[in-house]
Amino acid sequence: MQTAPAKIILFGEHAVVYGQPAIAVPFNTLTAMADVMPAPAGTGLMIIAKDTGAALPVTADTPVSDNSLVLAAQLTLKKLNVPPPDLTLEIRSTIPVASGLGSGAAVSTALIRELSAAVGQLLADDDLNELVYEVEKLHHGTPSGIDNTVIVRNAPIFFIRGETPAPVVIGRELTFLVADSGISASTRASVGAVRELVEHEPQVYQAYVDQIGQIVREARAHLEKGYLLGIGHLMNLNHNALRSLTVSSPELDKLTGAAREAGAFGAKLSGGGRGGNLIALIDLVDAEKITQALYKAGAAHVWTMTLNATGKSNPIPVDQPSSTN
Ligand code: PMV
Repeated sequence: MQTAPAKIILFGEHAVVYGQPAIAVPFNTLTAMADVMPAPAGTGLMIIAKDTGAALPVTADTPVSDNSLVLAAQLTLKKLNVPPPDLTLEIRSTIPVASGLGSGAAVSTALIRELSAAVGQLLADDDLNELVYEVEKLHHGTPSGIDNTVIVRNAPIFFIRGETPAPVVIGRELTFLVADSGISASTRASVGAVRELVEHEPQVYQAYVDQIGQIVREARAHLEKGYLLGIGHLMNLNHNALRSLTVSSPELDKLTGAAREAGAFGAKLSGGGRGGNLIALIDLVDAEKITQALYKAGAAHVWTMTLNATGKSNPIPVDQPSSTN
């Protein structure tokens, strides 16, 4: 069996589409899983989507399927130059769809890994990443590539479109709450809306995009030092800039406000916005209190996410400014 994690964008969504950096991390509490089982000779490849009950035959001759599971399998077989094997490929996922958690990219990653391993040619991460990106285009049009890259790498990344992603040092263990607004929203639609604004009024909206890029660069330095107040402050600024880009919503604003009032260091929407999820950086001792505040403010679900320290830097105390602040 192969698994792939969900993902969270800590900083920089939307601006990343315009060449600014963004920071994303894997969210391992939620996963997609793929598992193959042998099938009788001559029956070919069948994908079973356990969550929906759909049974999807994969044929080599269909040009390209508009079903992302079938497309992921077809691209894998084409890349490896093999015919559909006699297998049943079961797919399951605990990641909510259309909520900014990378559900599509995680499912494709698990599926392609499992299928390529089953035919004896497990794909290298770079090749896998390319295929997952191809499938992502089906949902998102022209995605930046951040979702597939962080999920395939399963490590925090500093991502600039078209460049090799760099690692992000996490200077101390960080605790986040991830709250689902319960509203599903199309990333394609919100990316399209921002594009229209940036194209028609660049003097206003390009400035927000550039501001987000600056926030991301500062955030990387704060993450490295483990400067909680600095990270939280930048999350709030990033949320405000995303509001200005019109991708927040009354529900997301209410949830971010509730998290801050209950003691979070900072909070912002995460992903495409207009629904989906928000993240709040918290002190672990406040987890229960802030979780309850988020439920009271309308969250459909709240998860705790721990981001482990990756070493190297010396965390600074909560109430001290860092040298980069
Ligand atoms: O898939 P989502 O909803 O997490 O959004 C991805 C992030 C965006 O920056 C909004 C789009 C992209 O392609 O980078």
